[in-house]
Amino acid sequence: MNLFSNTGGLPPSPPRSPPKRKRDRDDAGKGPQSWKKHRLFGLAFAQFHAFRRKFPNARCVIIDFNAGDGEGVDLAQGDLFGPNRSRATAELAAQQAATDNVFVILCEKQADRFAKLKEKYGTTPRVTIIRDHRDVVPLVVGFDYAIVLSDPCGPAGHGEDILGAVSRAVPKADFIIALNLHGVNRINGTHQSAEQVGRAGKANATSRERHGWKNDPYRWQALLGRRHMASSRVIPMSSTFTLQMLVIADFVVVKDSEFEVLA
Ligand SMILES: C[S@@+](CC[C@H](N)C(=O)[O-])C[C@H]1O[C@@H](n2cnc3c(N)ncnc32)[C@H](O)[C@@H]1O
Repeated sequence: MNLFSNTGGLPPSPPRSPPKRKRDRDDAGKGPQSWKKHRLFGLAFAQFHAFRRKFPNARCVIIDFNAGDGEGVDLAQGDLFGPNRSRATAELAAQQAATDNVFVILCEKQADRFAKLKEKYGTTPRVTIIRDHRDVVPLVVGFDYAIVLSDPCGPAGHGEDILGAVSRAVPKADFIIALNLHGVNRINGTHQSAEQVGRAGKANATSRERHGWKNDPYRWQALLGRRHMASSRVIPMSSTFTLQMLVIADFVVVKDSEFEVLA
């Protein structure tokens, strides 16, 4: 009997080790539905234009805390003239650097996305590209106004301590925060206590403490110390990402029907 008869005479290949687990939520913040998020960022960016109209000589900085690769995603084809793309946060921000007195800081941690940003905007005047939003605070000192876009892949990536520091470092600031409610609810739904479930339980408890509050808009408002706040409705983006966009500001001008003023 040929032991290898059903393998064409060749010894069977050894069992492959299972592929390395890739958690969907690691990249939950970017996907085919991202155009919805990009659209809301575009609407909320009215804050910046309103500020500029009122204070045309103010020194302004736009900070994209989580710039990604600067690429939009396909929009539905509405005509015969080629594909339409949404405008990612980095593009939204970098376009404004064409104006005097407006400076842009793009932050991106991942090396290949950082390289793409460099290729696109590396020589654009008044655009600075850095690897980590943790390094941004010294760069914003001396500006009259900052608008900050926070768009991480999950609740752990907002850099809320740095958002708070930016809020204190400039006299006027607006924040546009893309929350992943699904991510926060997942964290809040984890096991109860370290005593019950050992080390994993301890990690879960720490994670709940650090990020569990992030589904509460009023906690964000308190952290950033601004008078007003508006919120989008809750929008399902993917199986791991449910979006709620907050605008936290000194004065709220997002009057679009996509946003409701909360404070
Ligand atoms: C959801 S993606 C950004 C999507 C992009 N804003 C858009 O408009 O499509 C989140 C990005 O934040 C980056 N990131 C995470 N932590 C960071 C940090 N501390 N500083 C800078 N970028 C960070 C990730 O590498 C990832 O590319």
